[in-house]
Amino acid sequence: MSGTKRKPICAFGGLLALAVITAPLSSPYAYAAMAAGQAQLAKLMDGYRRPADIPAPPDNPITPAKVALGKALFFDPRLSGSGVISCASCHNPSLGWQDGLAKGVGDHGSQLARRTPTILNLAWSAPLFWDGRAATLEEQAKVPMAAGDEMNKPHDQVVAQVKAIPGYRAAFATAYPGEDVNIDTIAKAIATYERTVISGRSPFDEWLGGEEAAISASAKQGFVLFNTTAKCASCHSGWRFTDDGFHDIGLAGDDPGRGRIMPKIAVLDHAFKTPTLRNVADRSPYMHDGSMRTLEEVVDHYDHGFIKRPSLADQIKPLGLSAQDKADLLAFMRTLSSHDDTVVAPTLPH
Ligand code: HEC
Ligand code: HEC
Repeated sequence: MSGTKRKPICAFGGLLALAVITAPLSSPYAYAAMAAGQAQLAKLMDGYRRPADIPAPPDNPITPAKVALGKALFFDPRLSGSGVISCASCHNPSLGWQDGLAKGVGDHGSQLARRTPTILNLAWSAPLFWDGRAATLEEQAKVPMAAGDEMNKPHDQVVAQVKAIPGYRAAFATAYPGEDVNIDTIAKAIATYERTVISGRSPFDEWLGGEEAAISASAKQGFVLFNTTAKCASCHSGWRFTDDGFHDIGLAGDDPGRGRIMPKIAVLDHAFKTPTLRNVADRSPYMHDGSMRTLEEVVDHYDHGFIKRPSLADQIKPLGLSAQDKADLLAFMRTLSSHDDTVVAPTLPH
């Protein structure tokens, strides 16, 4: 996002509303109002600063050897029944760690029930899956290998395959000395690699860091809207822009989502995990069912397009956004893209 010629102060227009300040700009109170607005903005911005360290479970700390091993496994199609599908076939780094499809396609062309989500920034995320059915990355990683419609290879065959490759035996001995090569260590290595898949610094982060020209006045206004009138931040909160919670945002379809796991809680019917918005403009389609192709469609959905039903989240109400408001929200979301270096597929062990 290029800089703007408008003076930064213009961007605080929305904050006047935020601070419930009604003094006209010509009044003597305008400067005090502006200062109050700036203090509010600074407080909001503080909620989005990137963390310094990557969290990891105590029994699986991150080491370079584990990351390299996990990366090889993530990209290795020999972990699938047909020998042609790897984790990276669906979570493709050049497609924002998704697959560009409305619904994932697995071994033998089987279509999955839901869209492939990105794996960006999951070190901080739990539980996993659209419906939260896996508690940890380690637990999650075991599921697609054995799932008939995904990689379609039973765990014992995955383990036998990996053990038969001398390069993997050596890599496991270095990464997990004293531990067996089994489905748990395979999952631990994959999870460790996933923890290092992190979106880089974006123009939004540069702005948080004090570079006023890093994002446009429209994007700044969009950030304020996102946090106030449009209520987006009540779910898309924190530096990853997700509360890791489950909400029904009123999409059509009969997938119960989290409701299948916790059927007694009425608001979890049609509820899905809030996705991260980091790099969101660099991938598509959107939503658990891949039903939206553009961010414009997403904003229209929140403005007025949702289905009303008992489980619909309280925050989802008609927003009455103007064309300018929508443009501002979109400009803001586009500042979250980091345009990271291309991920190079590893040389697989043999
Ligand atoms: C055939 C396509 C496909 C393959 C292969 C695949 N995935 Fe996925 N992945 C998906 C889909 C679809 C979902 C969402 C399923 C759901 O939530 O019900 C998903 C969900 C995930 C999630 C949860 C993300 C979140 O935000 O909660 C992680 C992590 C993940 N996959 C990692 C992996 C790993 C590791 C592998 C390889 C061992 C893998 N996937 C293989 C399609 C695939
Ligand atoms: C009540 C919580 C909540 C609120 C409020 C909310 N979202 Fe969401 N958002 C979600 C959930 C949950 C999903 C995934 C829904 C699904 O797939 O069923 C989602 C999906 C999205 C997606 C698609 C991301 C992807 O990878 O598929 C975008 C973009 C988005 N929201 C932006 C916004 C914006 C902009 C606003 C404010 C106008 C907003 N959200 C308000 C919870 C919320």
